[in-house]
Amino acid sequence: MALRGNGKATTSVLVTGGAGYMGAHTVRALLEAGYHVTVLDDLSRGHPEQIAGVPLVIGDTADERALSDLFSSRDFDAVIHFASESLVGESVKNPDKYFRRNVTGGITLLSAMVKAGVRKMVFSSSAAVYGDPESVPIPETAPLKPVSPYGEGKLFIEKALSWYDEAYGLRSMSLRYFNAAGADPSGQIGEDHEPETHLIPLVMAAVITEKPVTIFGDDYPTPDGTCIRDYVHVSDLASAHVLALKALDSGKQTAALNIGTGHGFSNMEIVRAVEEVTGRKVPYVVGGRRPGDPATLVAACDKARDVLGWAPQHSSLREIVETAWRWHDR
Ligand code: UFG
Repeated sequence: MALRGNGKATTSVLVTGGAGYMGAHTVRALLEAGYHVTVLDDLSRGHPEQIAGVPLVIGDTADERALSDLFSSRDFDAVIHFASESLVGESVKNPDKYFRRNVTGGITLLSAMVKAGVRKMVFSSSAAVYGDPESVPIPETAPLKPVSPYGEGKLFIEKALSWYDEAYGLRSMSLRYFNAAGADPSGQIGEDHEPETHLIPLVMAAVITEKPVTIFGDDYPTPDGTCIRDYVHVSDLASAHVLALKALDSGKQTAALNIGTGHGFSNMEIVRAVEEVTGRKVPYVVGGRRPGDPATLVAACDKARDVLGWAPQHSSLREIVETAWRWHDR
């Protein structure tokens, strides 16, 4: 099979799920870096107004016909693949939806790329591939034991990618995000999920609506008893994707990389940070644990630094909360 783009620098990128939270921020970073961008998004959760002016094809990555039309009508040098269902709890209740959408969708996309000769992918993976880690910070070499169909599906695509490299020369960077948070400093784009399940937007909604947010559990083995997460600013995530494209262009081998900061904050520290930034009290109640939540998730980040030259620039808790608040309070 002839593969196009051997050694050719990437100029034209297809971004699946580009109208979503991480997708829209990455599209912005790609445009700023001078790439030509086309978005493929079924708009089941995406917000087209967040990518106004960017060519948008409405469609699903599991639609073989639509993909074949898209790849034959335009030349792409690389694909950044965000499109996926992303509610961990829902995936446990409805694995069928997650395997069809995320696994079948991902493989159908890879298959279309191989046919079209597109041989570079940046894949939106997740810390969920580690499941409940044995120790933190978590290096990429830690055991991969997902505890949800969501994490299982992400891991399956990562593994498929290494076989697609071996057989077809399709190189990839799988970025295992920890907790994406914050918003573009412009205040024009930000996090808008329906339903919202993430802590920071829910704490902000509690400030705005004055209805309490429930903190899930305060009996974890952490200093204040609430879970600890590694929050990484969505603009830093976006720049990791741009650097991942450049790394593939420079001939770097297929890899899976943690994208986090190496620092964790507890749920109560998030509540306090939101109170400091907004100057208002956060109404909250403490409830039971949410099934499947590990006590602590913190990334070891050396590999992303070594392979991509990436380091977070905007991921202080203050900047994350300030930019998220600017967006939510708009
Ligand atoms: N939390 C609450 N109350 C809420 C919502 C969340 O206390 O109403 C807590 C959770 O229990 C957890 C912390 O806030 O302790 C963070 O929860 P999020 O739902 O914001 O994020 P998760 O850490 O559960 O999920 C993130 C990513 C997923 C990824 C997962 C890996 O969003 O995509 O990490 O475990 F799969």
